[in-house]
Amino acid sequence: MMVHAHRALMAIPVRLTLRSFASSAAALKWEGGVSMVQGASRGIGLEFVKQLLEKNEKGHVIATCRNPTGATGLLELKNEFAERLNILPLDVTVESTIEESAKSITESHGSLNLLINASGILSIPSVLQPETTLSKVNKSSMMLSYEVNAVGPILVIKHMWPLLKAGGGFGTERDVAVVANLSARVGSIGDNRLGGWHSYRASKAALNQLTKTISVEFARKKDPVACILLHPGTVDTDLSRPFQRNVPADKLFTKEFSVQKLLTIINSTKQQDNGKFFAWDGQEIPW
Ligand SMILES: NC(=O)c1ccc[n+]([C@@H]2O[C@H](COP(=O)([O-])OP(=O)(O)OC[C@H]3O[C@@H](n4cnc5c(N)ncnc54)[C@H](OP(=O)(O)O)[C@@H]3O)[C@@H](O)[C@H]2O)c1
Repeated sequence: MMVHAHRALMAIPVRLTLRSFASSAAALKWEGGVSMVQGASRGIGLEFVKQLLEKNEKGHVIATCRNPTGATGLLELKNEFAERLNILPLDVTVESTIEESAKSITESHGSLNLLINASGILSIPSVLQPETTLSKVNKSSMMLSYEVNAVGPILVIKHMWPLLKAGGGFGTERDVAVVANLSARVGSIGDNRLGGWHSYRASKAALNQLTKTISVEFARKKDPVACILLHPGTVDTDLSRPFQRNVPADKLFTKEFSVQKLLTIINSTKQQDNGKFFAWDGQEIPW
């Protein structure tokens, strides 16, 4: 009995020492933290990669996209930041590509301090058009929007979850890992006064509900992870371009401005922000 009790007591500090040694080794290796940007080939996602690399000279970034060889903006950044940028293939509609990315990050970096889901679709020529009336609603558009905008980001979080660790990130020693999902104000049910865009709105509302649900689970498990939803404003990218006609000039943001604002929110995220939905200016948006 005595011997067993003694062994048990001895085991605790040894385990703790090994664990703290392993985490301090990881912290030393990735001093500036490791961020993943999913949906990084263009638009807001690409700008996140750029600013994360430029603003945190020790930070490492994993950028994922459907077709890395065609992602010219990312390849240009790879030329400039060869040591600190990894590019991996990932299509949110193909779960095996998400699993492969998780495996690859586990081997190369072993942890993630920030995960940004930036992918999203609103329209695709001759495939998907935002609906102006109920009579234009069809099943395939709804299912595609839901698959890419709501289901995909959640599967990404599912597979990256074991990698999420507090710390790192630019300009901050965050005490939580941050998961930031790019949503949209039009996904707010409480804020819906205009109607229209049924598929896009509903898919972002679903993303919001799924993110909130995950945030509750993380809190219950006392995981040091804060999940937030971000509305970037109306930003001048391929996504908004066909719909910019009625947007006043001062309400159409550059991607540089929007990402700068969103990074300010991300970098000040605390545990108590878990499950919140923020606009680019830090204001909370009603569900
Ligand atoms: N721009 C705005 O005004 C605005 C407003 C509110 C919310 N948002 C949200 O902000 C996010 C970024 O939008 P954005 O304006 O940057 O759009 P964007 O320029 O059209 O870029 C969309 C990104 O999503 C990727 N993507 C599409 N389908 C994908 C899939 N199946 N798997 C992986 N990636 C996929 C695209 O990759 P490919 O190059 O492979 O197509 C591209 O990188 C979206 O979630 C959007 O809903 C944007």
